[in-house]
Amino acid sequence: MNTRLMSLLQPRVFVAALTHRVVCPDGNTVSNEACCALFPVLEDIQTSMFADEDCSDAAHTALRVAFHDAIGFSNSNPSMGTGADGSIFIFAETELDFDANLGIADAFNLEAPFIAKHNISVADFIQFSAAVSLTKCPGILRPTFMFGRVDATFPAPDGTVPEPFHVDVLKSSQKTVDDILARMGDAGLTPAEVVALLASHSIAGADDVDPSLSGLPFDSTPSVFDTQFFVETQLRGTLFPGTGGNQGEVESAVAGVLRLQSDANLARDSATARLSGWQANVNNQALMASSFQQAFAKMQVLGQDVSKMVDCSEVILVPPILSASAAKAFSPPGLTHKDVPLDAPSDIWQCCYLFALPS
Ligand code: HEM
Repeated sequence: MNTRLMSLLQPRVFVAALTHRVVCPDGNTVSNEACCALFPVLEDIQTSMFADEDCSDAAHTALRVAFHDAIGFSNSNPSMGTGADGSIFIFAETELDFDANLGIADAFNLEAPFIAKHNISVADFIQFSAAVSLTKCPGILRPTFMFGRVDATFPAPDGTVPEPFHVDVLKSSQKTVDDILARMGDAGLTPAEVVALLASHSIAGADDVDPSLSGLPFDSTPSVFDTQFFVETQLRGTLFPGTGGNQGEVESAVAGVLRLQSDANLARDSATARLSGWQANVNNQALMASSFQQAFAKMQVLGQDVSKMVDCSEVILVPPILSASAAKAFSPPGLTHKDVPLDAPSDIWQCCYLFALPS
């Protein structure tokens, strides 16, 4: 008998993967009992805080505050905060006064009554709400969630949150991109991770940049997590959706869409624009979604000791799928590849031929 056949006839012991599951009081099962505490919070957030709405304003607000809380951290200066630590709400009277946190009071008003009801740390509540908010937006990959953040004992100082016109007060520099990348890098995020995280602006908008108008989206499809933001920010800016001349705003290419100065500059800077960053995301839903998922997981635990936390990712719901046709980038009406500025890096052209903008 041939040896391969003989080996197949040998008695084998099949070891089934034994995973111990815990049944929570509400009937859900989890692999770590600590995660049971999250189900009542999830239910409340879904049905009451987000009122069962899809990728809505409330969801966008919850995502933004998670970033503003987490970025209060520095690898070089402990006085810059302890990261994703809830300080933005715990010390709301201090942090919500900072210019960069304009509008975060909406998130505070939305979340504070729910935080008061549930017995988890403020830091966990903020990051959990953000993860849940993402599951409302088609196109997102299911976020992971680490549980067990320690709350802040002091506020983050002013200057930790980048602004669209970001100027490092210490250097008096005017270089938006350098300063934003330096601030994010100081907190532990690479330029590629900054670009990855900015995919969040695909489901975002501004209430306060143009004081005459609120709810101005950053791309023409703010209810889906698609690559359209990375397309539209590269196109030549020609108009303001409202009044011009607002700090942090530059001309956008699409009517009704607001373009942040920071997004415009990041889309054109050699550190972030080229194929490893901004342009690589164009029409590459899988790349954008997976790089965002990883960078977001890192952002959510900045400053925290992950070895003392529990992986409760299984509590997070599976987001709705974005169909292949909806995920396809498109040329905004009336615009063509000729609207990509000629002064942009030469490989910027590749973005637009990839999805065959009509000429
Ligand atoms: C790195 C530089 C960044 C800058 C300069 C920046 C700046 C801004 C500004 C000025 C707004 C508009 C606020 C308003 O007027 O209502 C905004 C909105 C928003 N940003 Fe960013 N952002 C950055 C990064 C991020 C990151 C990393 C995330 C999430 C991971 C994020 C998530 C959001 C969301 C979700 C909104 C919409 C909030 C809402 O609709 O209520 N941003 N951002």
